[in-house]
Amino acid sequence: MNETVLVVDFGAQYAQLIARRVREAHVFSEIVPSTITADEVRAKSPAAIILSGGPKSVYEVPAPSLDLDIYDLGIPVLGICYGAQLMALQLGGEVAHTGAGEYGRTTLSREGGSALMNEWPAASTCWMSHGDAIARAPQDFNVTATSPEAPVAAMENVQRRLYAVQFHPEVVHTEHGQSLLENFLHREAQIPSTWTNSSIIEDQVALIRKQVGNEKVLCALSGGVDSAVAAALVTKAVGTQLTCVFVDTGLMRKNEGEQIEETFTRQFGVELIHVKAQDRFFDALAGVTDPEQKRKIIGELFIREFESVARDLGAGGDGPRFLVQGTLYPDVIESGSGHAANIKSHHNVGGLPEDLSFELVEPLRALFKDEVRHVGEELGLPAEIVWRQPFPGPGLGVRIVGEVTRERAEILRNADHVVVDEIKKAGLYRELWQSFAVLPAVRTVGVMGDGRTYAYPIIIRAVTSDDAMTADWARLPYDVIESIANRLIREVEGVNRVALDVTSKPPGTIEWE
Ligand code: XMP
Repeated sequence: MNETVLVVDFGAQYAQLIARRVREAHVFSEIVPSTITADEVRAKSPAAIILSGGPKSVYEVPAPSLDLDIYDLGIPVLGICYGAQLMALQLGGEVAHTGAGEYGRTTLSREGGSALMNEWPAASTCWMSHGDAIARAPQDFNVTATSPEAPVAAMENVQRRLYAVQFHPEVVHTEHGQSLLENFLHREAQIPSTWTNSSIIEDQVALIRKQVGNEKVLCALSGGVDSAVAAALVTKAVGTQLTCVFVDTGLMRKNEGEQIEETFTRQFGVELIHVKAQDRFFDALAGVTDPEQKRKIIGELFIREFESVARDLGAGGDGPRFLVQGTLYPDVIESGSGHAANIKSHHNVGGLPEDLSFELVEPLRALFKDEVRHVGEELGLPAEIVWRQPFPGPGLGVRIVGEVTRERAEILRNADHVVVDEIKKAGLYRELWQSFAVLPAVRTVGVMGDGRTYAYPIIIRAVTSDDAMTADWARLPYDVIESIANRLIREVEGVNRVALDVTSKPPGTIEWE
């Protein structure tokens, strides 16, 4: 038996959250498709299995099901929501289309003893989201909790090591949800808490050493969290075999290049090639206003700059044969197959010519973003890099509406710095998914002192989001908006007006281009 928990996916967004909660309990989790067979499970030899919730009804045709033999492997199984109903139905219980579902906070009442909820009070709040409900538990199961519309809100068969809950223990609104997961993992399945930041680092360092041996490795740093943490891990593993390349496009955030240089060169002692390519990017972007064309130009040129450095270092010949990529677990899951090398198109180096093919080193492939940040902290990366909000590959280029010029990039960079600085001072930076400034392609009239001004407005864009697929505009406090606006006009030359973007996604996108 290994110490992995398999999370069977009946609906991706639910499965990912469960997998993250399991990891928070210091147990490694892996998401697998619901088509997995008992033989495949046996081969993986997991310590436990969790069946996720999902958007379907067990009566829909086709509804995802589970290989029945999995219940007989002797591996502890916890069914959640859809997973619970499926377990009930497959093992001889009954699921009813009652018409009276439960959505949101619901009171859960315990019934007798329960292996998973022993310490819970008689009544507590849980999060429900179901249309169907288990009407009757399979014969050899004990019902351990009920709710107003769910006669079987939880059930278990301790001998067979099978457990099921109609509610969602993985969401924070379920008062004791994490304790239920931990009881299942640690007490019932007896999995120790060995998945920690330091174990992740140790494992990855060993794997990287094994993969690259004595060969040279190349890494493109983007200023973002993922590439920085990946590079820091590789540095720890193979030190001077790594060369980092940072291409300054002229479209980076304020002090981004200096920060990278300071951290990697001085703190970590890594060989860093800082390509100051600003002029070439601005020249290539002169007169271009179409957003897609801008993206294309920036992406292309980035690859050419990287290629030229790689060739100088002897790549394709006796130079570096390995390339570090900051691919994360959600990228791997979303790519579908679970093992495809899904090279991020952003600021990254997909699209290199064939004679320059690298073997990829992807030390973050198993990690979620929050784990990456914690690993980064543990590796000694500065908080400013580790907690940085996401930044698009084309950088400020997609926040400058219309033509990108040196002057306009400088105005936006200074404005962006003010927005971020005030957001940080207000303690909101980590809560927000992104917060930044946008420079539109119009100028407006203003008055300053005795004179008339004709300058750019800046738009404040701040959003909350979990995954950037949807986003809500952030309700920033008025006094924060006020200090941002005052400073923008006072400190940033070329700006005379400030506006706030109150568009959610959809219908808007987060970026303006
Ligand atoms: P949108 O603007 O589409 O952005 O709502 C969603 C998320 O993706 C980022 N973004 C990009 N990232 N290359 C990237 O690497 C791009 O061209 C790009 N465009 C948008 C954006 O910052 C947000 O987090």
